[in-house]
Formats: sequence, C-alpha cells, structure tokens
Amino acid sequence: MNGLTTDVKVLVIGAGAMGSGIAHVAAAAGHPVYLYDTRAEAVDKGRAGIERDLRFLVTKGKLAEADANATLARVIPATDLAVARDAGLAIEAIVENLDIKQKLFRELESLLGEDAILASNTSSLSITQIGVALARPERLAGLHFFNPAPRMKLVEIVSGLATTRAIAETLYATARDWGKVPVHATSTPGFIVNRVARPYYAEAQRVLAERAADPATLDAALRESCGFPMGPFELMDLIGHDVNFAVTNSVFDAYFGDKRFAPSLIQQELVAAGRLGRKSGRGFYDYGEGAKLPPP
Ligand code: NAI
Repeated sequence: MNGLTTDVKVLVIGAGAMGSGIAHVAAAAGHPVYLYDTRAEAVDKGRAGIERDLRFLVTKGKLAEADANATLARVIPATDLAVARDAGLAIEAIVENLDIKQKLFRELESLLGEDAILASNTSSLSITQIGVALARPERLAGLHFFNPAPRMKLVEIVSGLATTRAIAETLYATARDWGKVPVHATSTPGFIVNRVARPYYAEAQRVLAERAADPATLDAALRESCGFPMGPFELMDLIGHDVNFAVTNSVFDAYFGDKRFAPSLIQQELVAAGRLGRKSGRGFYDYGEGAKLPPP
C-alpha cells in the first residue's frame, strides 16, 4: 500500500502543542498544510512555534535554510473550516472530549470530498465511538502522534470497528513516508502507549504523595534506571495536566472505574489551580523566569 502523495493537501484542526507539531511534520514531508483553529491567536502561535523549531534546526546545522523556508511556506494559516473542501486528509488535534470531537467530525464530513480520509490524534477516546457520529465511519482512523510530534518517531494507527483496512494501511504508509515508525492498534482505551502509561503516572504520583522524594529526585531516578529521556513529572508537565488528566479520566471511565486507572488527586488539584505544566508556566515544576529546573 502506498502513502498519500505530497500533492494531497492536509488539514490539521487544532493548532495547539500537537496540531502545530503534526502540521510541521506533514509540511516537512512536502504536503501543503492548512493549520486551522477556532482561535486565530492559536494559529499564529502554532505557526510561530513551527518557525522557531525550523530555525533551531538550521542553527544546529540539521536543516538547510532553503528547506526550512519551503516547509514554513507550506503551512497555511486558516480560521475558516471551509478549507476542508480542498483537503485529502484531515487530522483532528482538538480538546480531548468525545462530544466536541464528534461535532467537529460531523462538520468535516459535510465539507470534505468523497475520497478524503479523517483522522483523530486522540490519546484515549474510542475511534469506534467518535465514528458513530459519522455517515461514513469507515474512513475514520486514529493517527496518534507523540509529543513533540516532529521529534517523536512513534505513531499509533488506530482502527475502530468500522475502519477499513485500506484506510489504516494508507495512514500507516503515509506515516512511514513522513519518517515515522507507525504501529497498528485496534481501538481499546488509551491504545497501547497511553494505556500502559496510566498506572506509571499514577504510581509516580502515589510515591510523591507518600513523600518518598520530590519530583526532581523521582524524575532523575526513573530517567537513570529506565533510560527514559524524561521522568514522569517532567513528562506530565510537557504533555499538559489538563490533557493528561482528561486522558486518565477517559481510560478510567472506559474500564468501568477499574482502580488501576484511577486519576490522581494531585493532578486534579494542579488542573483546578491552572498549573497545567510548561504551557502555563507552572506544574510540578516552575518554568517562570529565573526558576530553578531539575538537571536535564
Ligand atoms: P492544546 O490544548 O495544546 O491544543 C488544542 C487546540 O485545539 C487549542 O488551540 C484550541 O483552541 C483548539 N480547539 C479546541 N476546540 C476546537 C474546535 N472545536 N475546533 C478547532 N479547534 C479547537 O492540546 P494538545 O496537547 O495539542 O492536544 C490535542 C489533542 O491531541 C488531544 O486530543 C490530546 O489528547 C491529543 N494528544 C496530546 C498529546 C500531548 O502530549 N499533549 C500527545 C498526543 C495526543
């Protein structure tokens, strides 16, 4: 099976951490990419973030200036969803909420052409359930990137009950063409990585609650022992506690309240306080000016 050719326009919906990263990946692979968000400032911020990452690669000698400019030129800001009429692949990366995602996909279905593919970057929601809102759920699949999308190689290609093999295979081949390492998964709560990661984050927060050590010490221990580039607290701060907490709740609910997946009260408090991690300047760590961060 071949991946999508680079003349296929990609629409990314949601210009936050993940949407802008995914737009970067698709544009770097040669596709024209519409980057859409309901908030114009999110589109501007997302595109500025892509530009910053591209410039960084140029200064590091990892990317030619001309390629950086060409990639950025392929990222087209959009605040009107009508651009979907032009797209062959729509990738949704909006808030982790089933009703809101279903509403968006219904709207997309009314705009996209017959052959277009619909994909969701959801971390945990059922592709089958999102698809229930659609007239043609067979062309919807999960295309789950990891944060930061330009750097992380793994992409889970998630099939719901209705997803055709051809759609999953096309997305698999496309992700491979984009330089990623795709894996197929069927739609179970949290898929592969987020399912296994839930008890990991939960246990780390229990150890913290029991005051075994502070987040920096726990992160250092897990980085060192497991060879992870980040410990659990740094990683949750990077993901965003609003997103991580929503994913945990979704997996917990989907498993009928199985306590292995119970959300953490510590994380609930962080979300309530608006301490969402890096994106808000504070989470388990303080990212404000002059803040002391754990060693890299
Ligand atoms: P984010 O909060 O950084 O960005 C979400 C963006 O979606 C915001 O700019 C918001 O304005 C926009 N948005 C919300 N509702 C919208 C709508 N109806 N139409 C258009 N735009 C809308 O969130 P993030 O972290 O990028 O997550 C997005 C999705 O990706 C979620 O489903 C999340 O579970 C998933 N994900 C997140 C990862 C992470 O590490 N943060 C990793 C992999 C997947």
